Order: sequence, then structure tokens, then C-alpha cells
Amino acid sequence: MALWFSPLSVIAQDAKPPQTVYLTAKGIVDPVTGLYSQNPAILIENGRITNIGSATQFPAPAGATKIDLPDQTIMPGMIDMHVHLTSSPTARRQNRLEQREVITGVANARKTLMAGFTTVRNVGAARYSDIALRNAIADGDIPGPRMYVSGPPVGIIGGHCSDDTYSPPEDNKYGENVATGPWEMRARVRKNIKYGVDLIKTCSTGGVFSKGTVLGAPQGTVEELKAIADEAHARGLKVASHAHGTIGIQNAVEAGIDTIEHASFLDDKTIRMIKKNGVFLSMDIYNTEYTLSKGKENGVPEESLQKEREVGTVQRESFSNAVKANVKIVLGTDAAIYPHGDNAKQLSRMVEFGMNNAQAISAATNVAAQALGKDDLIGRLAIGYSADIIAVKGNPLDDITTLEEVSFVMKEGKVYKGQ
Ligand code: ARG
Repeated sequence: MALWFSPLSVIAQDAKPPQTVYLTAKGIVDPVTGLYSQNPAILIENGRITNIGSATQFPAPAGATKIDLPDQTIMPGMIDMHVHLTSSPTARRQNRLEQREVITGVANARKTLMAGFTTVRNVGAARYSDIALRNAIADGDIPGPRMYVSGPPVGIIGGHCSDDTYSPPEDNKYGENVATGPWEMRARVRKNIKYGVDLIKTCSTGGVFSKGTVLGAPQGTVEELKAIADEAHARGLKVASHAHGTIGIQNAVEAGIDTIEHASFLDDKTIRMIKKNGVFLSMDIYNTEYTLSKGKENGVPEESLQKEREVGTVQRESFSNAVKANVKIVLGTDAAIYPHGDNAKQLSRMVEFGMNNAQAISAATNVAAQALGKDDLIGRLAIGYSADIIAVKGNPLDDITTLEEVSFVMKEGKVYKGQ
């Protein structure tokens, strides 16, 4: 009988990970120092790292399961700070049925994990489909990255968040989390928290993929954005704001928002504000290529293609300026605009537009963990951290594109690929 699934996926889903694993490899990259060392050894117990050093320093304890990757470099599992696992480039506009979106998410979660992304921040999904997906992964029912999810974004009437007018007629009332004024915004935040979100997503400008919105035009007032930020922060959640245009970026920073998504039109004053407030930027500088080459055939309307032509190059210039100014930048790709699993392709663009390889690796690991507020759990390989470990042939400090071909993936001590 032909197997239509790989036996590995069965092991990964059904078997409990071994209690104690002793992992060795040819080399290791530490994103915090940007250094490469040879012959690392990592001891993993119950999914956490309990020892790390050189293989000559400490041998395998008796009874440990050994994994050796003699020709590979290991590093922490990557983190993508801007994905939409429940949608895909071709499904995006036709497919508003929430049950179908969850199933789309199951397939995309697997692809993302196998590409070496052990954590994602999912910043926008209809009707809490992201929560269903996150929980199924956390319960071990399906393979996927650890997810931090926003649920439906909170936004204004006719805005980019949750109320784009591409919705089919039966949805053509206002979107589910649309609000007017600070108190209604607070109520939407409270509702999302009630349903179990990990963070809040809002929009402070128009977007490429929403009908009739203008990239440069701010959405929501500073008062409304402040209400969102205050309410979320009081409950211990961070806030991400979609913002292309300069004023909308400034409004979000002034309101106390934690991460700016896209951040396309940056000037010197705005960069200074971002630095002063310790805000992180998540700039999706890869997907412009995909949209401009494949968008038309995927059914992206001309209005969005035109906006993409206006934003792509400017956003890359802004990225270079932000890197020069030493702004905190994370890897955030907006996977769903392009096919899931290609997330690491953005790293080479981040290098092309100003980062060195070590900075790009950091953006996808320890800096992203910091932006999530999870830098005591993920983003580096150290004692007490989750055993989220990937491996590649070659050294990503020499060639960043090696991360496009991840050959080994472990999440929480469980091997999903490569053994
Ligand atoms: N979700 C974003 C929007 O609709 C995608 C922007 C993609 N383009 C880009 N150059 N970053 O606005």
C-alpha cells in the first residue's frame, strides 16, 4: 500500500518524546553573541534544555537517547512574528467559512514547522479560528509551531482590520471586531481576551489588501489606539499595529503600541520616536516580490497590485534606514500573502537591505522572543529554555540562504524532521 503520509509524521504526532536526549552536531550558532562554535552538545530533559556546552566538556549520560548531526549546524528554532496560518495566497478572499480556515491552518502549520519555524505570532484570523489551531497544536493533536494568536483584529468601520469590503454579502455588516471610540475599542479588546487571545492586533493605517483603504491615511485616533494599548497592557498583553503610512506609525507609537507591522513609510523623525519608545518593527520585505509576480494569477485585484507597486521599494528603503539607525527589528513575513513554508526567504532580503547575517538570525530568534515577551523560554539555546532546535547543512553565518533548507526540526524536545 502506498503511504500518502510520511512515517515520520506519525511518529512525531503519536509518540511521546524520549525523556532524556543528548544532541550533538558539527557546529552551533548562538544568536545572542553571533558566534559559531564547534562540537556542541545539548542535554534535553522533558522538552527543556538542562545542559549545553562542548561535547568534550560533558558526555552523554547513561540511558540518554543520542541524536548526532555530524555535518550540520544547529541553532534555535526560528520565530516568524507576522503570519496568518489560516489563510493562503489563493484562499484569501474566497474562503471565509471559519471551519475551512481552520483546516487551511492545519496544513499551513505543518509546512511552517517543517521549514524550521518553531514559533509564530499569528496576527489576525477570522472568528477565533487561530485559537482552535493554537490549541490543537498545543494539545499535540497536529504538528505545528507554538502559536501566539491575536484573534480577529480590533479596528475602525471600513478599516483594514476586520472590515475590508472584500467580504461576501452575508458578512457585509461591519466586521466582527469593529468599534468606534475608546470604550468600544476597550470592549473589543476585552472580548478577545475572554476568548483566549495572546495579544491584540489593530490597524492604524490602510493596507494593500483591503478595498478602498489608503496606505498613507491614518486609521483610528490616538485616543482610540491608546484605549486599545492601555486595556491590553493592563491585562498583560502586547499590541501589534498594522501601519504603512508615517502618521499612522507615529500615532501607534504615541499610543504605546509594542510592535509596528509593515512600517513602510519611515522618516527620520519617526525612526527617532520608534527608538525612543523601544518599539519593535516587523517589516515584511519579501512578499512584495511574490505579489508582483504571482498576484494577478492568484486573483489579487488591480487596486491591491497598484498599492503593492507603490509600497514595495519604499518599504525596503525604510528597512535599510531603520537598520542603520539600530532600531529593534524582528522577522515578520506576512506568510499567507506568499505560500507558507517560504518564510526564511525573507532573511536574504534582510541581508540584502542592510543587516549582516548575525543580525538577520537574531531578528528571527532572540530579538523576536524579546518582542513577544518570551525571551526566558525561546529564541536561544541555554539552560532552562525550550528545546526548540533546528539544523542546516552549512553555516548560516556564512550563507543566510542555508536557512531556506532546514534539515532537522525539534520542538519542545520532540523531533519532527530529520531523524
Ligand atoms: N497585509 C499587508 C497589507 O495588506 C501586506 C502588505 C504587503 N506588501 C508589502 N510591501 N509589505 O497591507
